[in-house]
Amino acid sequence: MEKRKIWFKGAIVLVDQAKVNILSPTAQFGINVFEGIRFYWNNDHQQLYVFRLSEHLDRLLESCKLIGINCPYSFKQIESFLFDTIHENQYREDIAVRMTIFIDGEGSWSSVEPVEMFIAPIKKQRTNPENIKGLSACVSTWERISDNCFPPRIKAGANYINGRYGQLEAKRNGYDLPIFLGRSGKVAEGAGACLFMVRRGVLITPTLTSSVLESITRATLLDLAEKLGFKIFEREIDRTELYLADEVFLCGSAAEITPIISLDRIAIGTGLPGEITISLLRQYLEAVCNTGGLYSHWTVPVYR
Ligand SMILES: Cc1ncc(COP(=O)(O)O)c(C=O)c1O
Repeated sequence: MEKRKIWFKGAIVLVDQAKVNILSPTAQFGINVFEGIRFYWNNDHQQLYVFRLSEHLDRLLESCKLIGINCPYSFKQIESFLFDTIHENQYREDIAVRMTIFIDGEGSWSSVEPVEMFIAPIKKQRTNPENIKGLSACVSTWERISDNCFPPRIKAGANYINGRYGQLEAKRNGYDLPIFLGRSGKVAEGAGACLFMVRRGVLITPTLTSSVLESITRATLLDLAEKLGFKIFEREIDRTELYLADEVFLCGSAAEITPIISLDRIAIGTGLPGEITISLLRQYLEAVCNTGGLYSHWTVPVYR
């Protein structure tokens, strides 16, 4: 039996003891919203830091509002359940936490109760910038979900069906991952990450109304890049601009910063992870681990 403990329906239990009704709306129709939150171990500080927790909890509650789930817990309660869960496991390494609010019981896609929650940590190491290889991508033939149909702003389990179509197609055709265009034909995002490109020294990312999740990593990188003195544009991106870009990378809490080195078998820049991409990754890793204290306002220590 696995020793990992999770928070499930009001109690801390061993992961194998957590059970959901097979006829529940979450199991049948994906009626749930979630967050993936990263915790980074800082060996010098002997401390585990959670990165941008309040932004993740705000987005979780916003997702509840948009999908029609009346969350029974306050921000403060969810925060304290999360810390209880980590303390129970006494992690001293990098982890990711999946926090999901879902409709349990027996119901349909329009059921609004019973609302339940789980908080489940998993071990997940950070990217090592020293041996990062970069991935191949294709422009997906699947269109990214859009606001009037399946709003990508909601971090809902069911939204990932769109990511699944793109990911399976990409793999079938020999690529690592897909990049989606939105309904307008402009670049949107990856299957589980937002996109940046670098062209002529300028950093460019699609706007928040370009069929993307309101990514916390995207916001973090805009801030870091500005402090590093980069010129940044949030604007529509054409597909052909990606082929001509000097660097392209994806970003997300899970992806961190993932260089894309080819698109549709056309090399991006030199065909290797770009310099700006790697320097942003280094800055990002410093921020998430609270190294140097410059970004301590984004991290919360778990052990006091
Ligand atoms: C579709 C999608 N876009 C973007 C992101 C990046 O969001 P964040 O940086 O908040 O993790 C994710 C990951 O959660 C995602 O699933």
